[in-house]
Amino acid sequence: MNTDNLKRRAAEAAIAEIHQDMRIGLGTGSTAKFFVDLLGARVREGLRCVCVPTSEQTARQASELGIPLTDLDHLDRLDLTVDGTDEIDTRLSLIKGGGGALLREKIVAAASDRLIVIADQSKMVSRLGAFALPVEVNSFGLGATRHAVAAVMENNGEGRKIELRKTVTGVDFVTDGGHKILDAFFGRISDARALSRALLDIPGVVQHGLFLDMCDTAYLAGPDGVTKHRL
Ligand code: A5P
Repeated sequence: MNTDNLKRRAAEAAIAEIHQDMRIGLGTGSTAKFFVDLLGARVREGLRCVCVPTSEQTARQASELGIPLTDLDHLDRLDLTVDGTDEIDTRLSLIKGGGGALLREKIVAAASDRLIVIADQSKMVSRLGAFALPVEVNSFGLGATRHAVAAVMENNGEGRKIELRKTVTGVDFVTDGGHKILDAFFGRISDARALSRALLDIPGVVQHGLFLDMCDTAYLAGPDGVTKHRL
């Protein structure tokens, strides 16, 4: 079974958690896209819901499908958010932000009673850090912020490489919030909690892609079916 089929299977499993009149956060990325497609079909069949998208990209997709959208100014709590991930460990800690939407994803997840992750099972790791950790930074003072992130890396992993994210055309990637992204290659992250605190202590860091104590359920799809992981 190809990876897209696995992503779709995981999304189908999460759709079973959706009930009438829910307030739902919509994730970003190729797996979340399957979930939004399925939700659109449920809305056409009569499901009532209101949703908050985590990116302009997801907002466009959802609005084309006729999914009712709002924002966190009009709704300050959500019942649940369904989103993809770049890595997930056995305690359901995550690295997210491969698609660059980590800031809005984290704001929406934090405003949700539950965060449900959907992914193919290749995203499950024994320790986070093989996937480069996205660190969203303010453009002002970028060099100094990069230096400070490098200093934090000295204490928290095996890797030392940091790359400023570029688009396919070679220009700096800019997030929906107008910030840039440093991808930090840790290799293995030894203490995710300490790393999170240290990164957030850097003034130029807007947010990072470690999602700790946020996800309570993950549907991970493999060739033998979808496995539900719950904390
Ligand atoms: C977007 O910024 C990310 O956090 C995505 O949720 C994550 O990269 C997973 O994306 P895929 O489902 O495309 O692998």
